[in-house]
Amino acid sequence: MSDVVIKFRENGPILVSGGATFTDHLGNKYDTTGQANVALCRCGHSQKKPFCDGAHKAAGFVGNEVAPLPQQQQ
Ligand code: FES
Repeated sequence: MSDVVIKFRENGPILVSGGATFTDHLGNKYDTTGQANVALCRCGHSQKKPFCDGAHKAAGFVGNEVAPLPQQQQ
């Protein structure tokens, strides 16, 4: 069983690791063979969508959301 991890990079792409399968809307698989990490564009500026090509830097993309901390037990 794979252990997929999805990480939202600060001001950058969504980084997926752990052997996920990527398909287009028709179900065709993207070849990510040999890639330990796959970066998905979330800024909308990549010329290689759905993958990141680094264009977020020139675009000045800001994405710095943080997950809420777990509720403290009282
Ligand atoms: S997140 Fe990198 S090009 Fe969009």
